[in-house]
Amino acid sequence: MNITLTRAESIKGEIFVNADKSISHRALILTSLAQGESRIKNILQAEDIDSTSRCMTRLGIDIKRQDDYLVVKGKGLQGLKEPRAVLDCGNSGTTMRLLGGLLSAQEFFTVLTGDDSLVGRPMKRVIEPLQRMGAEIYGRQDNQFPPLAIRGKSLQGIRYQPAIASAQVKSALLLAGLTAGGNTVISEANPTRDHSERMLAAMGADLSIAEGQIRLVPGRELSPQEFLVPGDISSAAYFLVLASIVPGAELLIRDVGINPTRDGILAALEQMGANLKIENQRIIGGEPVADILVRSADLQGITIEGGIIPRLIDELPILAVAMANAEGVSTVRNAGELRVKETDRIKATVEELTALGVKIKENGDGFSIIGDRDGFKGGIVSSRGDHRIAMSLAIAAQLCEGETTIQEAQAVNISFPDFWFLLSKVTGRSPDRNMPQ
Ligand code: S3P
Repeated sequence: MNITLTRAESIKGEIFVNADKSISHRALILTSLAQGESRIKNILQAEDIDSTSRCMTRLGIDIKRQDDYLVVKGKGLQGLKEPRAVLDCGNSGTTMRLLGGLLSAQEFFTVLTGDDSLVGRPMKRVIEPLQRMGAEIYGRQDNQFPPLAIRGKSLQGIRYQPAIASAQVKSALLLAGLTAGGNTVISEANPTRDHSERMLAAMGADLSIAEGQIRLVPGRELSPQEFLVPGDISSAAYFLVLASIVPGAELLIRDVGINPTRDGILAALEQMGANLKIENQRIIGGEPVADILVRSADLQGITIEGGIIPRLIDELPILAVAMANAEGVSTVRNAGELRVKETDRIKATVEELTALGVKIKENGDGFSIIGDRDGFKGGIVSSRGDHRIAMSLAIAAQLCEGETTIQEAQAVNISFPDFWFLLSKVTGRSPDRNMPQ
């Protein structure tokens, strides 16, 4: 599906972005393992979460919508049943990697597969430590890629420091460790998102965190919960950047998760000189949440590298749009992981923004940009099937002199189906002018 967009004249209003994708995946998986009925309020309704929900249903879990809740009837740590067919994780790396860990410890056979993008994404990072725990889990091409075939069995705990900063690897090992013999201890050089740890602790798991080490002592059953999922900072990021760069903009984004392992985008924008006010801070469902008031500002170029990268990994394509609008040169380094996301996001960001007129150069593990507010010209670009590239291009299009057509615009449905509606709302256009045709 294509969508054609033109420059935004003004940005104003108040919005709620959709619920957090990472937390929604975990809420579904962990409540399935609880002893009894949990309720999840405000769970994300998007394709990636449909993938996790479908897999959990095939594993024997009863998941139903009731009023504005999802009711999940958990069956305990060992209550899942062998699915009769291959489990399809769609486009979702989180679904595949987390379930890879969980199902390695369930005593039955499963095969996990996914769409064209997912079957090209690296899986050795989970297979290798799981095999060290005793798992029988295998992937295509010497365990590099999906599909994953798993003959579940009882595992041994592990001490492990992932070579790559990855919350998906960490969470997979924690899920495998829940029923293992012995403790699972994971060390992280740079912290990655800690939603699994927060939820497991809230559900009664014996989990402690000290000095970059997460220690899980197995054996405790998980108790059912009432979870309320906060807004997704990764979705808010598109609107944070939009309101920062359109002159005269003022936008209030309500109920955004500001977990310190996810707030790199706020730190980066503030370093660039953005005008952000973090208001009404509170805790929702064990996660810090705030309303964020954004006003436009003159942004300055920055360098982003090192420990902040895991805190804003998914926001780098949209940060590139902010950088292209800033004064001076900006550089992103140490972000090689972007090459193995839903698409090669370094290549996609560089090539598609170049097509719009941005002066951006590809490096091995990042990119550099010469900021130029008048550089956004417009043109024909493609999301390459990647939701975050689609939304970043849609925000870039709001600055372009001419029209921008984005091909494969439907990719936004992976994480943020309300994106076009909210974009229409804040730009003061009728929704149908911003809907993919
Ligand atoms: C996620 C972790 C990150 C992130 C992804 C969601 C998660 O991936 O990029 O969008 O929910 O755990 P990695 O673990 O591969 O860094």
